[in-house]
Amino acid sequence: MRRKLAAGNWKMNGTGAALAEITGLADMYPDPSVDILICPPATLLHRAAGAAQGSSVGIGGQDCHAASSGAHTGDLSADMLVDAGASAVILGHSERREDHDEGNEDVRAKARTAMDAGLTAIICVGESLAQREAANTLDIIGGQLSGSIPDQSTGQNLVVAYEPIWAIGTGKVPTLEQIGEVHDFIRARLERRFGEGVGRSVRLLYGGSVKPGNAADIFAVSNVDGALVGGASLKAQDFAGIIDALQGA
Ligand code: 13P
Repeated sequence: MRRKLAAGNWKMNGTGAALAEITGLADMYPDPSVDILICPPATLLHRAAGAAQGSSVGIGGQDCHAASSGAHTGDLSADMLVDAGASAVILGHSERREDHDEGNEDVRAKARTAMDAGLTAIICVGESLAQREAANTLDIIGGQLSGSIPDQSTGQNLVVAYEPIWAIGTGKVPTLEQIGEVHDFIRARLERRFGEGVGRSVRLLYGGSVKPGNAADIFAVSNVDGALVGGASLKAQDFAGIIDALQGA
């Protein structure tokens, strides 16, 4: 009942030449059984949306401001992302939380604006290594969920991505049991807060060193509905290995 989602987060990577990866994906997957989303840097959004137009590949932003417009030099509003052709936006990525001091309240305010603009908010949560080693993982995730996710969330406008900070870009991946424990916990929290109908319809992605070689195992874990992929989403060929695994899951 939940359509699976393979989402690529290009972070601060890619100039015009990278658009060929998007057309490559579009050519490879004319009619996929899963959703495919690429979140390029903001400078490429408009051209990426053009390259993906009419294809199975969706385009998303990597952040937006909580306000709908105004004196915020360098920032982008949710409406601007929509105008550029985005259908989704990543919010509360740990790199934003760390580099830009974003707290749960900030993420929640951004998510509200994004949802009001018609975007799907991909809200990221995840613990640091120190928090995991102190056995605080579920407490941290629980606080991030209740603090970052707005009340207006539904299965259409919300996706939650579990990204343990220590697994991002490191090649380290939690055990399948650890991934399953957190995803089951997130599902239970969503059902408790939003009721079973909405709680069960929100897609939960795993992110952190997902590669073609480990994707199938991760996608077999309960309540994993896809992945949020960094490095391995930059090349269509690599990302295809992950999309294939998701289609086969
Ligand atoms: P990597 O896949 O490069 O570990 O990045 C994960 C991530 O942060 C996606 O948002």
